[in-house]
Amino acid sequence: MAALREQRRDERARIVSGDADAVRRQHAQGKRTARERLEALLDPDSFVELEPYRRHQAAAAGLAHRRPATDGVVTGSGTVDGRRVFVYAQDFTLFGGSLGQAHAAKIHKVMDLAIATGSPIIALNDSGGARIQEGVLALDGYGGIFRRQVEASGVVPQISVVLGPCAGGAAYSPALADFTFMVRDTARMYLTGPDVVEAVTGRRVGHEELGGADVHGTSSGVATVVHDDEESCLEDVRHLISLLPSNYLDVPPDSGSVGAEHDRSERFADIVPVEPNRPYDMREVFAELADDGDFFEVHEGWAGNVLCALARVDGRVVGLVGNQPVVMAGVLDGPASQKAARFVRFCDAFGIPLVTLVDVPGFLPGVEQEHSGIIRHGAQLLHAYCDATVPRVQVVLRKAYGGAYIVMDSRSIGCDVSLAWPTNQIAVMGAEGAVNVLHRRELAASADPAATRRDLVAAYEAEYLDPYYAAERGLVDDVIDPAETRSAVARALAMLQDKRKPGPSRKHGNPPT
Ligand code: HXC
Repeated sequence: MAALREQRRDERARIVSGDADAVRRQHAQGKRTARERLEALLDPDSFVELEPYRRHQAAAAGLAHRRPATDGVVTGSGTVDGRRVFVYAQDFTLFGGSLGQAHAAKIHKVMDLAIATGSPIIALNDSGGARIQEGVLALDGYGGIFRRQVEASGVVPQISVVLGPCAGGAAYSPALADFTFMVRDTARMYLTGPDVVEAVTGRRVGHEELGGADVHGTSSGVATVVHDDEESCLEDVRHLISLLPSNYLDVPPDSGSVGAEHDRSERFADIVPVEPNRPYDMREVFAELADDGDFFEVHEGWAGNVLCALARVDGRVVGLVGNQPVVMAGVLDGPASQKAARFVRFCDAFGIPLVTLVDVPGFLPGVEQEHSGIIRHGAQLLHAYCDATVPRVQVVLRKAYGGAYIVMDSRSIGCDVSLAWPTNQIAVMGAEGAVNVLHRRELAASADPAATRRDLVAAYEAEYLDPYYAAERGLVDDVIDPAETRSAVARALAMLQDKRKPGPSRKHGNPPT
């Protein structure tokens, strides 16, 4: 027994320490090993590894005599702040983290366990993609991951962290996740790499320029969060987990009331100028509304004209959606609609109430927008809100015009409590635009068009932009003092906490994309 135990211990130590040269190369690239990453991600001593001895059974040339334990992926379960998660971390030091049949089967297993136990799945990706020597069995393994991700969608939260290469079809795994993290300089994601791009298009492009963290965090919108280094990235994954329920039947991790129902803050009115077109940073409003000023923003660098963040208000986890007046005047365009739609759907799937802060001049006009499908994208956001059965609170800070007013969780599409500041202007369009349409002939015939316009604008404003116009017609529940915004939202959320709204019987809807 003593000899067997010692042999087991030595073998296990060899598996854990890995190949020293490969580990050195990994460190030299500024990357941690799979096990070091799991140590940073999980609570100390909480990791339970599964199948550390598993090896590939492939007999292909070049593989038959090289059958390292783990097969290039460390899988298992651990806790984050005491809450269970399932994890897999690809090990680039073995076969470049490439995915073969055994590697895939290990991932399938932890995914199945995560779904069965109702626990989040966290994937740490660092891989050369399909293991070339294992041929179609590697592709079959990827298909099994994608199928399980779709099965897990809306059941347990899925977080994908890209910490190295993630090329070819493998990139669909982060794309299917609810949240995708990337690290600058080391992470890269593309369907076809620089060589193929050059061969097919003739354009030379570097890895970072083609699929680096900043590209996906700003242009493509594939990355939800971008970090400078692995340490802050994995710490941020822990922060995100602290805001998520473990599954769709679980309640979000509320932290208990902090007495916000009685809060007053003059800061709200200081942040937001009265003039409807003067910009301000909606992030400051988020901070004023959230407990401790703390919120977890998604897609910070992409579609900045709308902001989406998870936060707590009076201890309750909520999803905040807000127009951002400092970026493109807060207008809604295609990417902003897609960003907000996906966030709304995520919150709804996991029982997280929505608080929508509205200050929107409308949808972005333009040939490029129309041709790129702003109608589809706006409809996507509309569909997401209409479908959402979680508690929904709307706060109209200033302007809310036209279709954009409807889409930003108006009463008509099902918000439960609509609040508005005395600065609200809810209308089909702003005064200038309306006067142009309604009084074109009068303006053309006027001896003093500027004076006529001034009078007509003033008359329109007095009639249609009156702050009580919508409230008198039941489209706004209350016109509140800006200082009471946090307390009014906290009270609305408390009122709605037991909301139940079964959807119609059907297989599933068909949202526009
Ligand atoms: C087998 C692989 C591999 C792969 C890397 N390796 N990728 N082995 N299959 N796909 C091995 C290398 O042979 C090498 O082995 C070790 O991993 C480290 O690789 P290096 O090239 O030395 O590392 P580096 O210079 O850092 O380059 C990393 C890399 C490059 C950019 C990922 O290896 C690369 O381009 N690999 C191929 C990527 C690719 O085309 N994959 C297929 C994508 S298609 P040794 O023995 O020397 O340590 C795909 C389809 C999925 O994935 C479809 C799903 C639907």
